[in-house]
Amino acid sequence: MRTIHVAVAGLGHVGRETVRLLLSNRERFRARLGADIELAAVADRDAAREAKALGLPPSVLRLRDPLKLATTPGIDIVVEVLGGIDAPKALALASLKGGRHLVTANKRLLSHCWEELRRAANKGSSRMYFEASVAGGIPVLQALDNSFAANRIEAVYGILNGTTNYILSSLEHSGPNATMATALKEAQAAGFAEKDPTMDLSGQDSAQKVSVLAALLTGRALPPSKIACRGITGIEREDIDFALGTLSRTPRLLGVLRLDWGKKVRLEAHVFPTLVPLEHPLAAVRRQYNAVMVKASHADDLMFYGKGAGPGPTASAVVGDIFMLCRDILGSAPARTQTPATVELIPVSESVSPYYLRLFAQDKPGVLAKITASLGRRGISISTIHQSDVPAKDGVPVVLTTHPAALGSFEGALREILALGSVSRRHTVLRMLA
Ligand code: HSE
Repeated sequence: MRTIHVAVAGLGHVGRETVRLLLSNRERFRARLGADIELAAVADRDAAREAKALGLPPSVLRLRDPLKLATTPGIDIVVEVLGGIDAPKALALASLKGGRHLVTANKRLLSHCWEELRRAANKGSSRMYFEASVAGGIPVLQALDNSFAANRIEAVYGILNGTTNYILSSLEHSGPNATMATALKEAQAAGFAEKDPTMDLSGQDSAQKVSVLAALLTGRALPPSKIACRGITGIEREDIDFALGTLSRTPRLLGVLRLDWGKKVRLEAHVFPTLVPLEHPLAAVRRQYNAVMVKASHADDLMFYGKGAGPGPTASAVVGDIFMLCRDILGSAPARTQTPATVELIPVSESVSPYYLRLFAQDKPGVLAKITASLGRRGISISTIHQSDVPAKDGVPVVLTTHPAALGSFEGALREILALGSVSRRHTVLRMLA
């Protein structure tokens, strides 16, 4: 019986769970593959101690330097779950160039180094699987890559970050004292948010995942720096209450990738806090859960839902990738040769959506007329307008929603509105899911 040798770099929460799943499923995998998957080596700063705690047999090589895995003889698959970027990059490139297959959960590595990884994989005729890098335990990348082979993927969008979803959804029906800061503390205490949540709150974590999705679908790198990205920090409790009570909508941070397949692929990619109708399935995604909507040319609309982080879901995706690689190896499937598409990124200023705008204005004649005139001059049609006569700190709150408009026109009008002496700088902008 053939044996496929696997090495795991990084024995943090995910690495340890990956090792446990590999060992505990050995019999099942043997029955399904007709081959053995053997854990041949682990690498970690504390490899000896971690290996002992995991009860690994003496035959498993213990290394302190992960890079050595790329040159250790006999290893078929290198699993990179180190965290960070420099050591993972060195290991991934050396492994791929050396003809080893790679499994990684590292969205940062993939989104920043796609071209180099792709070239290294081509050089070594190696494969690279990275299911866990987007939406953790949800098997959406394998589906996009294989199950939709007969389709053109027209859009992939959804809730790609659990921290921000935990915060936004817990503010939906909480007491009057709940704020974004209290919701974040709660998420951190429950272990769903990082100690430093900057990447999550700013939307950058979601942008990296959009970047990985774009690379998977087009074969071309789309660096996160090219993805227009707004986070959730500007959203106030009052926006959520108003959206729920008056618009029957709720905010979610959506990562969006739209693809228009022609000779060139015209891509729209952004991350934006977005008001979704309460009857939309994304509104039912609460707490730390993720959900990815797919629009495919023939399968039509689909939704993938589950946990986007945590050792169990992440290791589940990693081991799923190892299993798929074993199938490829045993079936002698040729390494993937994807010809990168010619891609044109649509400027985000051309991205069309209905918008929500909350402003604070002086309650005096003519102010509303000036605000609406700025929008009207740019051809932006107002859908609803609400003004409260209860003054807040910066004036009376005015909430406008628009019909679909290009972001560039909307932002042009907004700049003009915010420059009016009678309007405060304080404001919130949200997209609205049409
Ligand atoms: N920090 C991410 C989240 C998980 O909150 O969803 C890892 O991508």
